[in-house]
Amino acid sequence: MKRKILSLLLAVTMVLGLLTGCGGGSGDSGSGSGSGSDKGGTGGSDKGAATETIEVGIVLPTKDEPRWLQDQKQFETILGDAGFKYQVLYSQASSATEKTNVETLISKDMKVLIICAQDGAAAAAAVEAAKAAGVTVIAYDRLITGTDAVDYYVTFDSFAVGVAQGQYLIDNAPEGTGIPLYLFAGAASDNNAFIFFEGAWSVLQPKVADGTFKIVNSSEAVALQDKADLSRDEIAKIIGQVTTDWDFNAAKSKAESHLTAVGADAKGNVVVLAPNDGTSRAISDVFATDTDITSYIITGQDSEKASVQYIIDGKQSMTVFKDTRTLAADSVSMAVDVLDGKTPATDTTYDNGAVDVPSKQTPIVVVTKDNVKSALVDSGYYAASDFTGLE
Ligand code: BGC
Repeated sequence: MKRKILSLLLAVTMVLGLLTGCGGGSGDSGSGSGSGSDKGGTGGSDKGAATETIEVGIVLPTKDEPRWLQDQKQFETILGDAGFKYQVLYSQASSATEKTNVETLISKDMKVLIICAQDGAAAAAAVEAAKAAGVTVIAYDRLITGTDAVDYYVTFDSFAVGVAQGQYLIDNAPEGTGIPLYLFAGAASDNNAFIFFEGAWSVLQPKVADGTFKIVNSSEAVALQDKADLSRDEIAKIIGQVTTDWDFNAAKSKAESHLTAVGADAKGNVVVLAPNDGTSRAISDVFATDTDITSYIITGQDSEKASVQYIIDGKQSMTVFKDTRTLAADSVSMAVDVLDGKTPATDTTYDNGAVDVPSKQTPIVVVTKDNVKSALVDSGYYAASDFTGLE
């Protein structure tokens, strides 16, 4: 019965999503049903868990980034409304806590694990433990690498995210040549950071090679600037110099030290590849205080509320909307199929270094000042009252 209600819920919300042009998903900007409060390894949002056993366990990387709170809210809305037995735990940036979380969920007889890895390689041990306990493992947003213990993967089109960021810089750059290009990237422990960078490089590299842009903050990227396709090791070298570790403070320090290291000729009107919203706001704040920077175009992703406000205020140029309603709904649909003994539908595969993981991929939407309202408010993702100055 419960599963029937859930299927209905998912179906209705998919239709709503289609009607609003957001590709499906569930929930709205309401508060969801779980408590959502935990302290990393223990506790958690287990509103759906009437007993000590659970059907679906969800492990997310950190509650210190608004991105993952968005995902938690969607899970609580979908699973909570359907009365599912579930629990959400946060790893708080620790692979050890992540493994303990998975073990806790296994001890509660979890049947399906939906996990967004803190570190894609380190998480292999956690999912292998789950697999050994007969749990079906769904990697959520970030691929877990080097293991055959991942059954499914639900993800956004991360290559397209990078392409959208790079293309935005190209389309909105000031006139002329030799425009300073600052590169920043995500954490090297996150497979997505490589895919985002690869996507951005695929469009930016030709513009560096033809002299439109001049990379100023990575000697490794400069050494590789004539190469269209980079190997993983080559990308790793660049990321090693420009990583933010997905950390606001690390992003701020890196932006400060990179601006200090370059001369005024690498300033003026510049473009900045920032990997996500949190790091974009941190980097933007630093660039805004440098008097030799005349203007900067800066990217982001996640459509975090704070960045949407930055966009409205002209402090961040764009973001990429990754509709967490869709990703959460897709992974829950997979879990429901598994619980019903069916094989979930997938539309592609991702090679994780050990196996080709059957995957479901969701498209992304570029958001700028021009379409904030239609993409994020009219679609029901946020309320207009969440922002000031929205037109
Ligand atoms: C996610 C991004 C997020 C980043 C930092 C990536 O794996 O895809 O949406 O901003 O991690 O948490």
